[in-house]
Amino acid sequence: MIANWKMNKTRDEALNFIYAVNEALPSCEKVDTVVCAPAIVLRDLVKRQGDNLRVGAQNMHYEESGAFTGEISPIMLQTTGVEYVILGHSERRQYFNDTDETINKKVISALKHNLKPILCIGESLEQRESGVTHDVLKQQLEADLAGVSPEDMENVVIAYEPIWAIGTGKTAKACDANEACAYVRSVVKNLYNAAVAEETRVLYGGSMKPSNVDELVAQSDIDGGLVGGASLDPESFLKLVNACVK
Ligand code: PGA
Repeated sequence: MIANWKMNKTRDEALNFIYAVNEALPSCEKVDTVVCAPAIVLRDLVKRQGDNLRVGAQNMHYEESGAFTGEISPIMLQTTGVEYVILGHSERRQYFNDTDETINKKVISALKHNLKPILCIGESLEQRESGVTHDVLKQQLEADLAGVSPEDMENVVIAYEPIWAIGTGKTAKACDANEACAYVRSVVKNLYNAAVAEETRVLYGGSMKPSNVDELVAQSDIDGGLVGGASLDPESFLKLVNACVK
């Protein structure tokens, strides 16, 4: 279960969250819990993360250093001690010109620097309505995972996030979300093999919340969630994690 705080929480708010969830997070081998926070608080969170929590960044540049004002490199992320990094979120694609080409470079670079990519893919409402969802997902996966070895796939998490469901309160129907996640898995199988497809964690994201999490994570091909709005409140986030433990 992954929290994506986006551009929310000051340092104090971030620390209050960590103190509130650390003690309460269930210890369960099958469930990994991650908080992806703004870069400026990552080090603080890593220092205070409890045994059952991991920390992730929300973006990075693919180069190790250079003239890229305002960007953060994989080496810088490594020094904070984070384990994960979200790459290719639709908000980055939409507002900050992330393309499949740059996302692929970021995925390769993250893996090289021992950071686990949480690769986000998903279709727009227009694409869903015109019946090209599968084409879009396939094309994104092929482009974003180009050059990623089967061994590296152990460290890649894929988040299927239909753009029309993000931050809109509109959740995909559990059966539609599951169908898309199953399709994602079938593409991974074609790109790699059945074992890799089986092992890859495919998450759903888009208005997941305590009231719909049970139905979503009960689906055959949904392994968890990438959650924005409902991850900001510790109590709400704990409910989401506990739903996965169940
Ligand atoms: P949301 O965001 O849960 O607020 O819809 C999900 C995401 O963007 O990862």
